[in-house]
Amino acid sequence: MITLDSIRKPVLRELEAYDAFVERQFTADGELLNEMLKEALSSRGKGIRPLLVTLSAAMNARTAGAAGGQRVSLAAMLVEMIHTASLIHDDVIDEADTRRGRPSINARWQSHKAVLLGDYILARNMAIGLESGQFDLVSHICGRMASLCEGEILQADCAARQNMTRRTYLDIIFKKTASLLGVSASAGALAVGATRDKVTTMRRFGESLGMAFQIQDDILDYTPSAQTGKPRGNDLREGKITLPLLEVLEKSSEERRTELLAMLKTCHESEEAVQRMQQIVLDEGGLDAAAATMHGYIAKAVQMLSEYDDSPYRTSLVHLCSFIIERNQ
Ligand code: FPP
Ligand code: MG
Repeated sequence: MITLDSIRKPVLRELEAYDAFVERQFTADGELLNEMLKEALSSRGKGIRPLLVTLSAAMNARTAGAAGGQRVSLAAMLVEMIHTASLIHDDVIDEADTRRGRPSINARWQSHKAVLLGDYILARNMAIGLESGQFDLVSHICGRMASLCEGEILQADCAARQNMTRRTYLDIIFKKTASLLGVSASAGALAVGATRDKVTTMRRFGESLGMAFQIQDDILDYTPSAQTGKPRGNDLREGKITLPLLEVLEKSSEERRTELLAMLKTCHESEEAVQRMQQIVLDEGGLDAAAATMHGYIAKAVQMLSEYDDSPYRTSLVHLCSFIIERNQ
């Protein structure tokens, strides 16, 4: 099994510079806000997005060491903080009480304060970006923030109407997850002055990786051995039809489909219904079919890296692709 530590190895120094940059930049006035911010920043998770920015920067840099520069740290911070704020808001929306194995911000400080903390992080992020004067990076990264909101609204609308199709599902996960991974990979290239073609290649690479990332997230929500630090089965409790269930619904008869959708409606209040649905999705091949779709996106992502010469950075990005689909966290 490939580990994140081995993937990080070629850019360890750059990631340390990035951590120091965030510590210097992200401070807050006020005791409570400071405490909340510290909690949010100390439970930042796997750090896939800053890692993607940094590896992409290192692979696209014309001179060694360029990926340790301020522009790369700034790009990594802009994407990671958008992600951090979006998860704080997401846990409010999903009424999730744990995140990364710890109480979520809303569980610890209530939803209204969690919303404000998410807003604060976005506001500080934007201010730091603008003060830096690196407007190309700020507009490249922050210009795509609306996509996350579009994805979430579409997802909420579909859950309310139970009218999910494969096309809409792929549209939702593109907007809520893949777009920011595409922005991360392309921002790394942009930060070190790569050509427009390379920036586009890296965007497409990150988007394919991001599609696979979210499909794996949706698979893990059905997986008993997953160690995500999040409540499992929440998608069903929220009435969300994600790819594993969609695969089963697509090959069901009209009658069976109606029966399954009726069962889904009861998942909000019945743990027994959640467990029955999970078993049905497993027994009827929903997880395997979703995994096959995910592998297709990963193959596409790896293919895009073939434009680059072999290097430790490219190897790490290929390994990141494997990690995304093998992870259970
Ligand atoms: C996690 O999905 C959520 C996202 C990837 C995006 C959340 C976006 C918003 C709440 C819109 C607000 C945007 C900004 C920029 C503040 P999930 O619930 O499927 O995953 P989970 O299992 O990790 O909760
Ligand atoms: Mg959620």
